Amino acid sequence: MPKTLLTHHRPQWRTHIGFILAAIGSAVGLGNIWRFPYLCYKNGGGAFLIPYFTALLVVGLPLMILEISLGHKMRGSAPAAFADISPHWEWLGWWQVIFVMFGIVLYYSVVIAWCLNYFYFSFNLSWGHNPNHFFFHQFLAVSKGPFDWGNIRPQILFSLGIIWFLNWLIVFLGVEKGLERANKIFMPLLFILTGFLVFWSLRLPGAREGLEVYLRPDFDKLKQVGVWLDAFSQIFFTLSLGFGIMIAYASYLPRRSQILKDATSISLVNCFFSIFAGLGVFAILGYMSYQSHQPIDKVVTQAVGLAFVSYPQAISLLPAFASLFGVVFFGILVIAGLSSSISIMEAFTSAVIDKFNYRRRSVVSVLAVSGFLGSIIFATQAGLLLLDIVDHFLTQYGLVLAGLLEALVVGWFWGAEKLRSHINSAAQASLPSFWDWTIKAIIPFTLGILFINALIKEFSAPYGQYPPLTLILVGRDWLLFTLFFAVVIAARRWANKE
Ligand code: PHE
Repeated sequence: MPKTLLTHHRPQWRTHIGFILAAIGSAVGLGNIWRFPYLCYKNGGGAFLIPYFTALLVVGLPLMILEISLGHKMRGSAPAAFADISPHWEWLGWWQVIFVMFGIVLYYSVVIAWCLNYFYFSFNLSWGHNPNHFFFHQFLAVSKGPFDWGNIRPQILFSLGIIWFLNWLIVFLGVEKGLERANKIFMPLLFILTGFLVFWSLRLPGAREGLEVYLRPDFDKLKQVGVWLDAFSQIFFTLSLGFGIMIAYASYLPRRSQILKDATSISLVNCFFSIFAGLGVFAILGYMSYQSHQPIDKVVTQAVGLAFVSYPQAISLLPAFASLFGVVFFGILVIAGLSSSISIMEAFTSAVIDKFNYRRRSVVSVLAVSGFLGSIIFATQAGLLLLDIVDHFLTQYGLVLAGLLEALVVGWFWGAEKLRSHINSAAQASLPSFWDWTIKAIIPFTLGILFINALIKEFSAPYGQYPPLTLILVGRDWLLFTLFFAVVIAARRWANKE
């Protein structure tokens, strides 16, 4: 049983800041840069900060505390931690780490690969005068439908290889020499580069108008339920919750740990980073609208459109050092993405090591090769379409469901009080008893609403106008497959049994 994990040697972070930076590295990712600023703009500007921070307080932070303290107490990855609660729940831990490893990271790494390609393109602004055409037709050569795979895009395959090599290398080197060291380089670099870019953008003409559009509060928007739902689902994704990542990272903490303080600083740094990065994003959009005499709402897009179309467009308009700007921007995306993808690899790796006692190096090598092979599907001409569908299902349903079950299992089945007293004894903290009820009731309730709302929307209009059968085959079945494997692996014996 997992309790015997205590008998085998567990790696530890060498420094406390190493853990904090790694956790921030996981949380700060592509989502902070291309999704948050857009959500803010769309959902009432500065007024959106109200639902956003409410979501942080009501579900984000309490769940962050839960994951960190669970990993810390059980000293194990998600499956080990849940198996310690009860063998019946081990599958939940597996499901979390499987669907993030064989779901999210497969396409997430392809997007990082695109960023790496664009990093090179920046040197001579290869996207030319029409970045939209360049991205969709030349670079991706998007096919007509999700099953019309066409060819593998060689350029993307190449940079995908580099990304998986880096994923492999960092996780292969282990907690201290790999993850900790990488994040100690990545995070300061990320903050410096982002600071540099934000201050540069703020000095451009039109920046002020951009910021106004980004942050001008429109409190009327807060009456819309959708705005609140957006805030809650973003908090979940942005804090990397529900996938066993924070559980694994916290399992490498020393016995005496300031769980409460750490959870708070990780969450706050992540959220402030989003707001800060948004300043840069909107300043440059403001500049673009100023230069091209277009109203700003014509130039604002989100996600892929923002990073690979609007931004290149804006970069090309810069009077000087345009390439440098591009290199820094795409460099930021690569670093932010990579520090998240390694955390996903680690969540799965530590789960396999805990259960089967295999050597880290073998696990990581097999995993990196299969991850690379699995990602190739997203490097085909249908990549963008598949990625869009898988992302929708995993984040709207998988993530929400995993978080919901996690809160219920810990809250009711095991007892939030137990975890709270552990937190309070690991350092002289005083987490109030109100937290128990947040775990037992408030989180399941809010996540339940998110889930039901997503279902209602799904049935009233199939996502993104894809054919419903495609959605079922790709989206729903992906969730079911991973669930199946989770149950199968959970049924295997623990190699560490005494
Ligand atoms: N938190 C990351 C982001 O905002 C994404 C992520 C989700 C990373 C889940 C790991 C796991 O981009």
